[in-house]
Amino acid sequence: MKNQEFIFLVEAASKAPSGHNTQPWKFENVADGVILHPDFFRALPVVDEDNHALYISLGCALENIVVAASNLGYECEIEYPEDTSGAISVKLISNAATGNDDLFDYISTRQSNRSKYSDKMVDEADTEFLKSSFDFPSVHLYLFNGREKFEPIIPYIIEGNNLQFSNRKFVDELTSWFRYSKRKAELTKDGLWTASMGLPSMGKIIGNFVMKNFVTAESEAKRISDILQHTAGIAIFVAEENNIRSWINVGRAFQRFGLYACKLGISIAHLNMPCEEISVRSKLAASLHVPDYHPLLLIRYGYAAPKPYSYRREIKDLVIN
Ligand SMILES: Cc1cc2nc3c(=O)[nH]c(=O)nc-3n(C[C@H](O)[C@H](O)[C@H](O)COP(=O)(O)O)c2cc1C
Repeated sequence: MKNQEFIFLVEAASKAPSGHNTQPWKFENVADGVILHPDFFRALPVVDEDNHALYISLGCALENIVVAASNLGYECEIEYPEDTSGAISVKLISNAATGNDDLFDYISTRQSNRSKYSDKMVDEADTEFLKSSFDFPSVHLYLFNGREKFEPIIPYIIEGNNLQFSNRKFVDELTSWFRYSKRKAELTKDGLWTASMGLPSMGKIIGNFVMKNFVTAESEAKRISDILQHTAGIAIFVAEENNIRSWINVGRAFQRFGLYACKLGISIAHLNMPCEEISVRSKLAASLHVPDYHPLLLIRYGYAAPKPYSYRREIKDLVIN
């Protein structure tokens, strides 16, 4: 495809969310479209052993491409990979009837906002809008609007948190993606910049010392419980099957949800711990009365002022050939 259009699509895709902001993707320009390749050098082997979150992230980037392509007058025909190392192929078909998707405007303004939210509730009309934000096979959204509705979910979040923060390998992997200063974040253009997480700048040595010695399962559980006191609701993305196609579709669904939320001025952030710890994931599925399904993302939502945006790598570093 034309290089200018390719770059336009890669720019949109690169703004997608990804686990620990690893940006685990590469893009290839081919005659009839774009190929999204997984970048396994940016995998998270501890928290994401089976690469489900990596493919969810690719699904988010894919959805940004679909939205941006419609603004170029293209419909997308998508070929999903067969196995857990494959690429996603996007064939672009020129269609004069394809109109501008107004979600495009929110690709740049969407963010994960890890602040403590205000106590304002989200109207049912808006939650209905969020529920209708996507329609992908095998993906279901469970939405708990209001503290009394999501109260039963909290113990699973805390259980997942406690398992993760008692696991040294999890903490080491997490901290390796922390960017403790603006200078470092600007240099790597990836990872979790402390300012976008609402934390002070502190430098790597002090930052790692604090993370490893003062941030404990207990202190995190306390922080999360407090955050949940100021959360309007919780959304859980559940897949019927635990395979690569479902992971990509969960990513696509989550990205549309995030763009719709942004359009409504609603902030979102992940509390994925119960989805990442397999033993807790199955308990959560049972509590949702779908013991054979797979809760893959858990999102809190509410209202908050924007935070500094996290960085993205340069387009030239994302492109193959
Ligand atoms: C599959 C996936 C898993 C994620 N898991 C977490 C998480 O467990 N905790 C968290 O705070 N953020 C999580 N995030 C959010 C990312 O850290 C965030 O997207 C990334 O830092 C880029 O920031 P942005 O979304 O503001 O652009 C996740 C995002 C994705 C796509």
